[in-house]
Amino acid sequence: MSRMHSPLIGDFPSYRPRRLRGSDVLRRVVRETRLHSDQLVLPIFVRTGRKVRHAVPSMPGVFQLSIDEAVREAAAAQKAGVLSVILFGIPSKKDARASGAYAKNGIVQKAVRQLKKDLPGLLVMTDVCLCEYMSHGHCGIVKNGKGRKVIDNDSSINLLARTAVSHAEAGSDVVAPSDMMDGRVATIRNALDTNGFQETPIMSYAAKFASSYYGPFRDAAESVPQFGDRRSYQMDSANAEEALREVALDIQEGADIVMVKPALAYLDILHRVKEKFGYPTAAYAVSGEYAMIQAASKLGWIDERSLTMESLLAMRRAGADIILTYSATKAANWLKDS
Ligand code: PBG
Ligand code: ZN
Repeated sequence: MSRMHSPLIGDFPSYRPRRLRGSDVLRRVVRETRLHSDQLVLPIFVRTGRKVRHAVPSMPGVFQLSIDEAVREAAAAQKAGVLSVILFGIPSKKDARASGAYAKNGIVQKAVRQLKKDLPGLLVMTDVCLCEYMSHGHCGIVKNGKGRKVIDNDSSINLLARTAVSHAEAGSDVVAPSDMMDGRVATIRNALDTNGFQETPIMSYAAKFASSYYGPFRDAAESVPQFGDRRSYQMDSANAEEALREVALDIQEGADIVMVKPALAYLDILHRVKEKFGYPTAAYAVSGEYAMIQAASKLGWIDERSLTMESLLAMRRAGADIILTYSATKAANWLKDS
């Protein structure tokens, strides 16, 4: 062994890193980062009907579920050790004001009530956005601005606040705005407070990037924008400093948990957000990340289980306290027999 000098450990001639890698138990004892099923959140797509399990082709293993089936899916997650789900709604009809998003008997509102009734111990989070409920598929209200269509910020955040309050009224434990309009966290916080929901936490999609990794989700949620794209509200993937400003703003406005999305391609952002703010930080392992692992494992090119666990651990190592993943139930079961 050559003599070792490093700025971290100085002169230390007998350092042999492999000494701590010799057996599985030893590796487990010195492991720095751990993944626990408590940290996982399972996204669920709910739609109308009964006994409906509508497969999403680009996301094998993921389904649009009627409420009864969503309860079964959530119960299976809970049995595996997952504590939380996050709901996305697919309404039976869409319009230009996203009325289904804040309807008292909207699909998410009904699903929350049923889940809280049947599985009282489950933490039910709800995604707050308008895109699934808009005929045009955008996350806000479309207006005409100088001869072209634009997404109007300030009228959109009022509808988002209405949506968040209606989720809280239905029993949502955590509301999670994913729209990326400016000022929506403050507006939502204010609306929740004035309606008696001071104790309802906000998990904001704070640094959400305009990403091609969302493709399969838009199939699942039937929320493909009918014109243009989301780049006027979601972040440019080149920008890290701006991501920190977005997170700072959301914290100032009252976010309790901040999210970085997507996860794997944005681990640098995740790390900086956790380091700079020390807030409860979530990472969203998005649909495209899931689809890539599914596709490659189907071809026999990678191993689904080990690659999924390695990816989730990487998110934890980078700073995620909470991970939203379509593999939550599987991962929780794998953690049981590891
Ligand atoms: C919509 C929303 C999206 C996701 C979560 N909420 C898609 C989008 O912004 O187009 C993406 C989730 C995923 O890809 O798994 N506000
Ligand atoms: Zn949206």
